[in-house]
Amino acid sequence: MINWDEFHEDDTATTEAPKPQHKPQEKPEQPLASGAMTSDEPASSAVGEVRDSAAMYQVAEQDRLARARQSLEELDVAAGLEELEMGAARIEVDDKQMINARADLNQLVPFKYEWAWQKYLDGSANHWMPQEVNMNADIALWKSADGLTQDERRIVERSLGYFSTADSLVANNLVLALYRLITNPECRQYLLRQAFEEAIHTHAYQYCVESLSMDEGEVFNMYREIPSVAAKSAWSLKHTQSLARPDFHTGTPETDQELLRNLVAFYCVTEGIFFYCGFSQILSMGRRNKMTGVAEQFQYILRDESMHLNFGVDMINQIKLENPHLWTPAFQDECTQMILEGTELEIAYARDSMPRGVLGMNAAIMEEYLHFICNRRLAQIGLKEQFPGAANPFPWMSEIIDLRKEKNFFETRVTEYQVGGALSWD
Ligand SMILES: [Fe+2]
Ligand SMILES: [Fe+2]
Repeated sequence: MINWDEFHEDDTATTEAPKPQHKPQEKPEQPLASGAMTSDEPASSAVGEVRDSAAMYQVAEQDRLARARQSLEELDVAAGLEELEMGAARIEVDDKQMINARADLNQLVPFKYEWAWQKYLDGSANHWMPQEVNMNADIALWKSADGLTQDERRIVERSLGYFSTADSLVANNLVLALYRLITNPECRQYLLRQAFEEAIHTHAYQYCVESLSMDEGEVFNMYREIPSVAAKSAWSLKHTQSLARPDFHTGTPETDQELLRNLVAFYCVTEGIFFYCGFSQILSMGRRNKMTGVAEQFQYILRDESMHLNFGVDMINQIKLENPHLWTPAFQDECTQMILEGTELEIAYARDSMPRGVLGMNAAIMEEYLHFICNRRLAQIGLKEQFPGAANPFPWMSEIIDLRKEKNFFETRVTEYQVGGALSWD
């Protein structure tokens, strides 16, 4: 917190003109860096050099302004707009498309994709920061010798190990691969919001790691060093590589399908499946009144993530609607396989992170839950469920994800938290 008095005192101290020093120069105790003036050189020559360089600086300053004015005289506004394909006609709703649009991307309105704009508003209204969560009880529990069992500690370590880098992978995919290929300003507006939320999530995991004084090198390298974690990260990374190439462009059925693959990989699998074992483990811990600060951070993150997932599903379905030729039986088969691959990797992670039953869960129950989640992801993008009849063994997870729920089980302000509020002119 800034103390205004201290700030003011510092400010006065730094702005007060230094008293002139008339003492004769003494030989410096330490040798000066090469090029620096030494006491052997006459002081008058140094003063002269300073005057010369000040005069030259003033000349350069005038010259710079003249160059700026000259450059503006030469600016060809019409040619610049033409290059950006901003022709004479104003943008119409029908000009907008999810991909391959040639319409001006700088005009947010008129809206075509209201669902994207609404999610941008909802995401912004749910703004939160990791430092707002009290971590004191977690720190005490983590440091006490018998506070948590070894199996419970493993769950916290594995979760922070996976998530501390997973959200960076998602953010990099958004900013470095996906953003330029989505060609309407409403979706781009949400993508920018999502990218910032991913930065907050990475911050939240770092905040947990720092609060608990965990081995940062071990946690942040888990995505490369622990096989069940590394396999999930490698699978996500594989699907960002082609889109991140500077020479990748959509516009052919093959490249458009490659973009859809990326959306399925990141929204349906990475954010839609890979997060769910860790989330349910940590939230189950919170329900048992353990690591409630970490659990509260995860609860905020899960609320954001369920909106990311819904946004991704909307994007995929809208692209399908606008480009039905992409959604071939072979491509549907491929997407189904991707979601099954993701489910298998998450089941392997569940087995590795829960070698025994813990927190009222075990790997077999988690497998059933992941089959249920897999069915949901397939159905959300219009694909056939692969595990008919799979039930949800954790109905409380669905309750947490339900954004409109009036009260959450921690009795925190998660579901009510809104910032800014609406302005009223009455
Ligand atoms: Fe995230
Ligand atoms: Fe996300």
